[in-house]
Amino acid sequence: MSNGTSTSDESRDQDSRVLDSQNPQSQKETSEPEGDSGDGIKSQSRDEKDQEFEVDDPLFSQQKGIFRNKEMVRVGWVPDGDRIVGRDDYISTISSSLNDAVYGGAPNHISITGKTGTGKSLVSRYVTRRAVNASVNNVRMGHTYLDCSKSSTEVQVVSTIGQQLNNENIYDENEDVVKMPDTGLPKDKFYKRLWEILDHYDSVIIILDEVDLLKTDHVLMSLAKAVESNDTSCHIGIIAISNQINYFDELNPRTKSAFQTVELNFDPYNANQIQDILRGREDAFYNGVLSDDVIPLVAAFSAQEHGDARKAMRLFRTAGELANREGSDLVEEDHVRRSQDTLVKDRFRDFLQGTPTQMKATCLSIAAKSLYSRDDYIITGELYDAYQQITHAIDMDTIGIRRFRDILDEMQLSQVIETREVNMGKGGGRHNSHRLLHDPQVILDIVMEDTRFRDISKSSLKRFA
Ligand SMILES: Nc1ncnc2c1ncn2[C@@H]1O[C@H](COP(=O)(O)OP(=O)(O)OP(=O)(O)O)[C@@H](O)[C@H]1O
Ligand SMILES: [Mg+2]
Repeated sequence: MSNGTSTSDESRDQDSRVLDSQNPQSQKETSEPEGDSGDGIKSQSRDEKDQEFEVDDPLFSQQKGIFRNKEMVRVGWVPDGDRIVGRDDYISTISSSLNDAVYGGAPNHISITGKTGTGKSLVSRYVTRRAVNASVNNVRMGHTYLDCSKSSTEVQVVSTIGQQLNNENIYDENEDVVKMPDTGLPKDKFYKRLWEILDHYDSVIIILDEVDLLKTDHVLMSLAKAVESNDTSCHIGIIAISNQINYFDELNPRTKSAFQTVELNFDPYNANQIQDILRGREDAFYNGVLSDDVIPLVAAFSAQEHGDARKAMRLFRTAGELANREGSDLVEEDHVRRSQDTLVKDRFRDFLQGTPTQMKATCLSIAAKSLYSRDDYIITGELYDAYQQITHAIDMDTIGIRRFRDILDEMQLSQVIETREVNMGKGGGRHNSHRLLHDPQVILDIVMEDTRFRDISKSSLKRFA
């Protein structure tokens, strides 16, 4: 197996996402399988990573133990094709949609949906890079990657694409200013400069990741109509990615009619595929440091969460980091379990941070019920009783049942609980019933971090349930 390339495409791992672009000069100089495909930004080869540097300070001494190349277990690392598992059909659909651009013609636009961690970003970036590397000699083909959670306004999108595709050949020295500033121009001037930059290319692929976070979908329409409106002669292919399944159906009708796409929906992985994905990254670790049960266990945890490869990758890396920190020579099952606990807690803490106290009280009520009642699913009325007892015990305002139901809906959307309708038989009517999707103990621990809930003892919780 050969190496892949790395960019920090993992905002949800608290790392910064970087934009990924290509200029017409450097585009043919690299070949995809051997490393950097020309991003020029934050790419790292394994050779670089394998070097050992002497550091005198014992606080930062080289840890030889666990990782041989930690980059490979970062979410943003783009592996080679032979490490991409179970995505051949999508790769082939995307590549045939982009095919004309390789010859300087017009590619099809592509819209990709699918749950988190199903390989949408990876596959899009991988195929786009290959397309640019494959582009025929006299074709000036470019590509750029945008994370719309970072560039969410129309001006940010336009200026970022322009900056990424700009280079010294396009840069206009007479203007004595960068051709594409971040701010400070009227919107139409931003567009004008973008069209000028694009005119230096025959074809450009623009990946708009997390596209549902755009403040307006107008920019999609402008980009999609650019050639037809004679704004630029460059053929633009947009790959728009979202984990909101309905996003593309709900676009503004004018945008929808301009932005006709090849639609793809990425399936979740099963536990075996996650195992294969992780085995493709085994050489991030030194030989023999992974105990046999580590990969199956990481895969099993992520299969519980719809086969999310992003979570699997994060857990794999975190378990290695924990073993490293503890000076262990091996990554073992226990490191995985403890890392999983920490990650679940972190996620839940992030979710609760900044939510109203009422949400925390609601979480507490379902955690108490899950711990102390025999039923897996708890109907709304029973939960509301427990919630009221909790709010009375700590002298907190109590919300009405309608608002309480809204909070349960929010918890369902955020995948804290699962809700289904139950029929209570003759005269009992139909009720919504809820099941906690996380370890109740974890939820109790985190809610109790809020001082307002500290006065509630575990024994009183049992009473409320
Ligand atoms: N088929 C695959 N083969 C190898 N690695 C994969 C595969 N699918 C995903 N991965 C790895 O799993 C991680 C998550 O994948 P990716 O970021 O592409 O998911 P995503 O669908 O874009 O998720 P999100 O919607 O959360 O952005 C990355 O580290 C990626 O390299
Ligand atoms: Mg993604």
